[in-house]
Amino acid sequence: MDLDRPGHPLPIPSVALTVNGRAGEALDGEPLADLLDRLGERVPHVCYQPAFHSVQQLGAPQTCDTCLVRVDGELVRACATPVRAGMVVEL
Ligand code: FES
Repeated sequence: MDLDRPGHPLPIPSVALTVNGRAGEALDGEPLADLLDRLGERVPHVCYQPAFHSVQQLGAPQTCDTCLVRVDGELVRACATPVRAGMVVEL
């Protein structure tokens, strides 16, 4: 099962990962927040601007922590976590 939108194949390189128990593929290194947006998962990201692919525009002290998700059992910021092979994401 592809995690991308139907009819829009992912360019290479892609990596295999699991989101909420669904196995699929995503772009290696893309922000996890972007992948979750593409999947239609409702994870808020108040300070993250996808056009810039970074919260660094605001600086670390101003991060909002609204995008926390569990990756491999640990809470991480989806906006600051690059997608990598084998990661297990739970919302
Ligand atoms: S969107 Fe604010 S820390 Fe991730």
